[in-house]
Amino acid sequence: MKQTKYLLDESQLPKNYYNIIPDLPSPPPPPLDPATREPLDPGKLAAIFPMGLIEQEVSGQSEIPIPEPVREAYSLFRPTPLIRAHRLEQALKTPAHIYYKNEGVSPAGSHKPNTAIAQAYYNVREGVHKLVTETGAGQWGSALSLAGTFFDIEVLVYMVKISYQQKPYRKSMVQTYGATIHPSPSERTESGRAILAKTPDSPGSLGIAISEAVEEALHDNKAKYALGSVLNHVLLHQTVIGQEALLQMKIAGEYPDVIIGCHGGGSNFAGLAFPFLREKAAGRQVRAVAAEPVSCPTLTKGEYRYDLGDTAGFTPLMKMYTLGHDFVPPAIHAGGLRYHGAAPLVSQLLHEKLIEAVAYGQDDIFPAALLFARTEGIIPAPESAHAIKAAIVEAERAREEGQPKVILFNLSGHGNFDMGAYDAFLAGTLGGNGKK
Ligand SMILES: Cc1ncc(COP(=O)(O)O)c(C=O)c1O
Repeated sequence: MKQTKYLLDESQLPKNYYNIIPDLPSPPPPPLDPATREPLDPGKLAAIFPMGLIEQEVSGQSEIPIPEPVREAYSLFRPTPLIRAHRLEQALKTPAHIYYKNEGVSPAGSHKPNTAIAQAYYNVREGVHKLVTETGAGQWGSALSLAGTFFDIEVLVYMVKISYQQKPYRKSMVQTYGATIHPSPSERTESGRAILAKTPDSPGSLGIAISEAVEEALHDNKAKYALGSVLNHVLLHQTVIGQEALLQMKIAGEYPDVIIGCHGGGSNFAGLAFPFLREKAAGRQVRAVAAEPVSCPTLTKGEYRYDLGDTAGFTPLMKMYTLGHDFVPPAIHAGGLRYHGAAPLVSQLLHEKLIEAVAYGQDDIFPAALLFARTEGIIPAPESAHAIKAAIVEAERAREEGQPKVILFNLSGHGNFDMGAYDAFLAGTLGGNGKK
């Protein structure tokens, strides 16, 4: 029988996070203070983040130890399996070998707990009582709520309104883990009220929800803010994915020619790709491709410049690919990919042409998701379906060129709470790239 699953023992769970910063060709452009446009004093971030995470944000150390309580919590679902997609390969009649890392096996159903658990730990260690956050698709909000219950810290979530309506059970999940959730924009914050005054039927966006969450954290001295993507420390925590995948590919006796992740803020892509890019810096050939929606084409159509991370202007200015901090993307079903910006580290790598980016529409990714569900059995999150589509495109190219190729993609989450989107697709009412 052909081998399908490549599994690691719990003892092989990474002991360190991998920090790509020392391996970059040039130092990352610093975040700027929006008031002065001077490099930001990291101490200023202390109003919203604990010192442990600020230190990681600016660290130049290559390896950062993973605290034991964090590894213990990870061991509930990590190491995650690496799967060879034999059945998808057969359906595509491709000579390519396709592998995927299944991050959907975490209790929250995505890669997000990798950083949620670490963030909850560092906050609790510094006596923080409450974490406030935003969520797009609901995956991050449920992951932080899960981490909140593990580490006994209160969690409050602002969920982008369109996703709140599309995915009522993500809300229930957040509440099941004991956290509180509000649709955004809301009347609870000045930022939310300002948006509603201008656009009463605003579907919301991650930029708006971030503003509401940061504003609430700033007004409560027992609370801090938590972000599920974009920042250096979040990408750092996600590198457990790629480190495991490196070991698993070794067991499979192969090395990827191309690595693919979907891209919202950049964390699951970076988590898988960065440990491989470390090897690329040491001379090994590998392509890394970030797949985003055409309706929110940050990497493929955005500008590389300094911009704010949120709509209202609470965050520092970051050098990144951006569509503009007031861009409100159409209400597509891959809610986790509706972000105007991109991780500064991913942006820098793209700008320096060390990685690539592609964009697909809703009408492209759902057929790919269905093919994956009908061959591999897992119903993917619509976000992850962007990576699946990109993997299929690579596999079809391999078939046309008659070239063997090894493809590795990140299945960042399952779509079991996204059945509304699948219903719409199956009923033919999904629409193209914008609203239903
Ligand atoms: C399943 C899934 N994949 C991907 C993403 C995109 O985030 P990132 O680019 O940070 O991985 C999200 C965000 O909510 C998500 O829920």
